[in-house]
Amino acid sequence: MCGIVGYVGQRGSLEVLLGGLKRLEYRGYDSAGVAVLAPSGELGTAKKAGKLGNLTDELRAHPVTDGHTGIGHTRWATHGGPTDENAHPHLGDGGKLALIHNGIIENFSELKAELIERGHSFSSETDTEIAALLVGDAYRETHDLTAAMLAVVNRLEGAFTLLAVHANEPDVVVGARRNSPLVVGLGEGENFLGSDVAAFVAYTKQAMEIGQDQLVTIRPGSVDVVDFAGSPVESRRFEVDWDASAADKGGWSSFMAKEISEEPDAVANTIRGRVVDGLVQIPEMEGLDDETLRSIDRILIIACGTAAYAGMVGKYAIEQWARIPVDVELAHEFRYREPVLSPNTLVVSISQSGETMDTLMAVKYARERGARTLSICNTQGATIPRESDAIVYTHAGPEVAVASTKAFVAQITACYLFGLQLAQARETLSTDAVRALVADLQKVPDQLREVLKSGDRIAELAHWMADTRSVLFLGRHVGYPIALEGALKLKELAYIHAEGFAAGELKHGPIALIEPGQIVFVIVPSPRDERSLHAKVVSNIQEIRARGARVIAIAEAGDVAVLPHADEVIRIPLASPFFEPLLAVVPLHFFGMELAAAKGLDVDQPRNLAKSVTVE
Ligand code: F6R
Repeated sequence: MCGIVGYVGQRGSLEVLLGGLKRLEYRGYDSAGVAVLAPSGELGTAKKAGKLGNLTDELRAHPVTDGHTGIGHTRWATHGGPTDENAHPHLGDGGKLALIHNGIIENFSELKAELIERGHSFSSETDTEIAALLVGDAYRETHDLTAAMLAVVNRLEGAFTLLAVHANEPDVVVGARRNSPLVVGLGEGENFLGSDVAAFVAYTKQAMEIGQDQLVTIRPGSVDVVDFAGSPVESRRFEVDWDASAADKGGWSSFMAKEISEEPDAVANTIRGRVVDGLVQIPEMEGLDDETLRSIDRILIIACGTAAYAGMVGKYAIEQWARIPVDVELAHEFRYREPVLSPNTLVVSISQSGETMDTLMAVKYARERGARTLSICNTQGATIPRESDAIVYTHAGPEVAVASTKAFVAQITACYLFGLQLAQARETLSTDAVRALVADLQKVPDQLREVLKSGDRIAELAHWMADTRSVLFLGRHVGYPIALEGALKLKELAYIHAEGFAAGELKHGPIALIEPGQIVFVIVPSPRDERSLHAKVVSNIQEIRARGARVIAIAEAGDVAVLPHADEVIRIPLASPFFEPLLAVVPLHFFGMELAAAKGLDVDQPRNLAKSVTVE
C-alpha cells in the first residue's frame, strides 16, 4: 500500500525514481508523484492522480529540473480521495522540504489542530501533509534534516514510512519507519531507499534492512541508521536473490499471465534445497528445533485473503500428518478476541509480502503473549519474518500482479514441507511414508506443467462467459479452500459476484441460489480417495444439475464417473489427494484472469486494490 523510492548518487534522479515507481506501482495506483533536487538546490515537484502514466505525461508537459537526489511515491488512498492535491509529495518549510508517506498517522487530528494554531493552512486532506509541515517547522529550528525528522517521528502514532528531502541538503534523503516497510539499496557512490527491493534491484542487489522505529540518512557515500532515540544501530545486510528481469513482463500480455506460467517453478524452487535423503530438512527452521517441535501442542495459522486459503489447505495436511490440532484464523480477527495462547502454541503466519499489517500485528500480539512464531513468507527483508522465531521462505520470486497466484502454490508447498518436517520430528509418520509423500510432492511441478496446457480451453470458456453475472465454486476437504480461492480471484479480477462453498454445505442453504443457467465450478475429489468423498461430490453435482446449473468439473485424469454429470471437465493429473489443490487451482487462476481479460479489465491492477496491504 503506497510505494516509496528514494535516491542519492550520480545518476539522473528522475530516471531512477520513475523506474522504481514502475516496479512499485502494484503497491497502489491512485496517484504518483516525485520531488527532485536540482544541483542548484531548487526543489522540483510533480504529482498527478491516476496511474504512473499520468505523472510521466505531467512531467513531459511541465518538466522539472533534474538532479541526483529525489523521492518518489505511488499512492493507495487512505486519508483523502485520489486527487492531484492529495497525491504525494507534500511540502513543508515554505516549499523547501518535500515528504512522502506510506501508512496512517492515527493522531493526525490533534496534530492538525496544533498546526492550525501555529498559523498553517493545508492544501490537501491527507495525514501526510501534517508530517511534512511538522518536519518543515522542526527544520527551521535544527537546520538538519535528520534531526528534524527525529524531532517529529516520536510524536506520530500509527504506521508510517516517511522519506524527506530538503533544498538546503542536496545530497541527502532521510527515511523513517514504524510498522511500514523500508529497505536500503547499497550502491557504489549512490544509495537507494524503497518500500521493497523491487524499487532498486535494477541498480543493486546489495540491500540492508531498516528495523522498527529506526531512521536512516542516505548520502552518495554513506548510510547512517539510528533508532528513534538517536542512538546508532547496526543493520543486517542481505543480497537480493533475484534480478530485475524476474520482475519484468518478459513478453507476456500481463504479469499475471507470466506468474501463472511460473507456478510450476514456484513449487519446485520452494522444495529445492529442503529435501535430504528423501526426507524434509528446512535449514532456516533452526529457531524451532526438533525438541521444540515436539513440545508444541497446537498450531494456529494466521493470514489474510489468498494466503489464508493456503493456510486452510495446510491445516488439512499438517493435522493429518503431524497429529496436532491446527486452526486457521484471519489475522484481522485474531487479536481482537483475546485468543488463548501458551508457549506450546505455534503461531504460523503466511504472507507473500511479509508486510500485511493485519498479519504483522497478529504475529506481534502472539509473541507478546508467549506463543512461538513461524513465518512463511515470499519477500526477503520483510517485516513479518523479522518479527518471527523462525522462517520458511517461499521461493516464488517477485509477484507483481496484485492478485496472488504463484505465491499461493508456493505457500501451500511450504505448509506441506513444514507439516512433513513436523511429522518427522514427532514421529507421527514412518520414514517410508514421509519419503513417499516427498517423492509425490516432487512430481507436482511437472504435473503443473501439464495443467498449464488446459489454458486455451479455459480461455475459450471464459470468453464464452464474459457476460456472466455470478459464478459459484464448490469443493470438499482440500478442495474447499480452492473453491474459496477460485471465487476470490473472480471477484477481485473480473468484478463478478462469486462464492465458494464447501460442497457438503450446499444443502444447508446455498443450493437456493441455483437457478437455470447458474455456472458452478466443482473441484471433484479423486475417486481413489478412501473416504468416498468423490461419490458425495458427484451426488452434489447431480443435485445442482437437476436444478439447472451448468457444471464445470475439475477432475483427475481417468475419472469417468463424473463425465455424465458435467457440462465440461477440466482434467488434472493423478496426484496424492493432499497435493491435488496445487493442480486444481491453476485452471481457476487462469479462469479469473481470462474472464477479466474478456471484459477488457486490467488483470494486473484491479480497481480499489493494492498488493501490499500495509494499513489495518
Ligand atoms: C488475493 C490476494 C490477497 C492477499 C492478501 C494477503 O489475490 O492477493 O488476498 O493474499 O492480501 O497478502 P500477503 O500474502 O502479502 O500477506
